[in-house]
Amino acid sequence: MTTYRIAPSILSADFARLGEEVRNVVAAGADMIHFDVMDNHYVPNLTIGPLVCEAIRPHVQVPIDVHLMVKPVDRIIPDFAKAGANIISFHPEGSEHIDRTLQLIREHGCKAGLVLNPATPLHILEHVMDKLDLILLMSVNPGFGGQSFIPHTLKKIAAVRKLIDATGRDIMLQVDGGVKIDNIGEIAAAGADTFVAGSAIFGKPDYTAVINAMRAELAKI
Ligand code: DX5
Ligand code: ZN
Repeated sequence: MTTYRIAPSILSADFARLGEEVRNVVAAGADMIHFDVMDNHYVPNLTIGPLVCEAIRPHVQVPIDVHLMVKPVDRIIPDFAKAGANIISFHPEGSEHIDRTLQLIREHGCKAGLVLNPATPLHILEHVMDKLDLILLMSVNPGFGGQSFIPHTLKKIAAVRKLIDATGRDIMLQVDGGVKIDNIGEIAAAGADTFVAGSAIFGKPDYTAVINAMRAELAKI
């Protein structure tokens, strides 16, 4: 049976009350905290860095899943590991040497993930599958919360699911962007097991109600 994980993205949280926000969302049933790092260079937006990761770390026991939308990426990886990140993923466009960056993440004691934008082809995965703990498929173009899910991602999810199953390894297949109660079921049916949701959770008054409704949809698969 598939283990499904819900990863609320704090991009849509109230940053003035971030400690309380992450505690509340974990109490509501979040399996991990998705931490979006944007640099106003690789993506046209600027968010949060290692200091904020360090600040929320004592507030939650669940893994902190850092999604780096930065270029270049290597310099900042040790800082996030020190700040308490558990999973670090990056976009291949942000690294000159993808294999080296994946090793760097693992050397710092974190799980390593590669992130593919909607237009990034899957062949980039071919020679690094053994160094991946997570594959993140973007279902929107990165940079902003609250965008709509791009439907052709479903086919891509199914293709990556086959690649993962062929390895026999336990690689998380995460989807990020426009995930809601009403589409999480088809995303899971396509083969995803880890779901990032920002505005669908933090945009709503009752986090428990949303996460329970998502789990109810996942239970139907
Ligand atoms: C987009 C970020 C996402 C974003 C998702 O670049 O990587 O994690 O916060 O937000 P929603 O769920 O609102 O699409
Ligand atoms: Zn993200």
